[in-house]
Amino acid sequence: MKIRAVTGVKDILPEEIWKWRFIEEVSRKTLEEYGFAEIRVPLFEYTELFLRSIGQTSDIVEKEMYTFEDSKGVNISLRPEGTAGVVRACIEHNLISAPSMEKFYYMGAMFRHERPQKGRYRQFFQIGAEAFGSEGPQVDAEIISMLHLLMDRLGIRDTVIEINSLGCSACRPEYRKALKDFLGTKLDLLCSDCRRRYEVNPLRVLDCKNPACKDAAVNAPQGMTCLCGSCMTHFESVKEFLTELGVPFKFNGRLVRGLDYYTRTTFEITTDKLGAQNAVAAGGRYDGLVEDLGGTSIPGIGFALGMERMAALLPEEMQRPNRIDIYLAPLGAEARRRALLLLHGLRSRGIRAESEYQERSLKSQMRQADKIGAAFAGILGENELARGVLLLRDMQSKVQTEVPLDQAVEKVWEQILKVHT
Ligand code: HAM
Repeated sequence: MKIRAVTGVKDILPEEIWKWRFIEEVSRKTLEEYGFAEIRVPLFEYTELFLRSIGQTSDIVEKEMYTFEDSKGVNISLRPEGTAGVVRACIEHNLISAPSMEKFYYMGAMFRHERPQKGRYRQFFQIGAEAFGSEGPQVDAEIISMLHLLMDRLGIRDTVIEINSLGCSACRPEYRKALKDFLGTKLDLLCSDCRRRYEVNPLRVLDCKNPACKDAAVNAPQGMTCLCGSCMTHFESVKEFLTELGVPFKFNGRLVRGLDYYTRTTFEITTDKLGAQNAVAAGGRYDGLVEDLGGTSIPGIGFALGMERMAALLPEEMQRPNRIDIYLAPLGAEARRRALLLLHGLRSRGIRAESEYQERSLKSQMRQADKIGAAFAGILGENELARGVLLLRDMQSKVQTEVPLDQAVEKVWEQILKVHT
């Protein structure tokens, strides 16, 4: 019997890898323009890190973590998200100290044991960013506007930026109480999960996808009504800065997020193109997290985008870029011998070159050139050899030109430059 990939994980095959690389390259460039430095943290951590940051009562910690004991009985979890690990590393290596601003970004696999469906996987990839050191609303606006720019650069349209404020440790308890008072009258309408959430973390009820719970919570009080003066001023400033920066956004008083570390500004970039999985990126402020994890009191804010969801949203008209510059198609033993030398010359010059290694018809070699995404084919038959030329075929326009075989490397280089400019 064939062994298949584990349920809920997906292979990213060579034919779609260009989308991933495109998203990674554009994100890297954008993040570095905004002063973020790359950090690579482990794929697994002590389970306690996630309990103390994401929250014991969050769905992620309660139901979705891949947790195991190692051979010494130590509790380890595969990371379900990146923020906790980055904060842990920042504290451990003294990378952050207020008031200086420190910014980090990361790319990599995350693991959650969720019910798999379109756009929702058990191993998925995030690009995330975290900025530490400022409580100011400028940073919130800067991060959201950076995401807006990134979407634009990737050609991803039809998304909406939704924002909310969850308040701080001073005003959240009041909101929690107001919500509990309201939900207390609707308990018999809630699902069993939400009845439990009502006790331990009532905000979570607003995030439930069950239609009955959604209906029951339709008129639930919104966090905004309980914000303290400084949270309100902060949120108003974030909105003003976004408006000044020309970033469109929508206020969503029900945006509560599934992780417990958030304070004040939270945001999501949503789309209606991906069915139920409508968030392509999300984040927010977490001013208490560094301290909660044993560091000094340093505010932070960040986001993560889902690579699978972004790749699915790239414009359909985007063309797969050429993977190979030239595919040599030799015909006959002598041509194959010359092709071997020519391949070496081309590759040494920095040209991405590939060839056929066995005798095959010209037709099947051209098919192969197309399949691997070659910009040009270089045909070398007996006739070309006798005349000392290489027949260069533009795979897109099908226009053919002859170049002298002894100048082939330079001539191919010139042609490739033309394609790239
Ligand atoms: P999150 O909302 O859990 O936030 O995930 C961020 C993004 O990751 C989502 O908007 C979605 O695009 C993608 N994502 C999440 N779960 C899955 C899944 N099962 N399959 C495919 N894609 C998924 C966080 O992870 C926070 N750490 C973000 C953050 C950083 N907040 C502050 N800093």
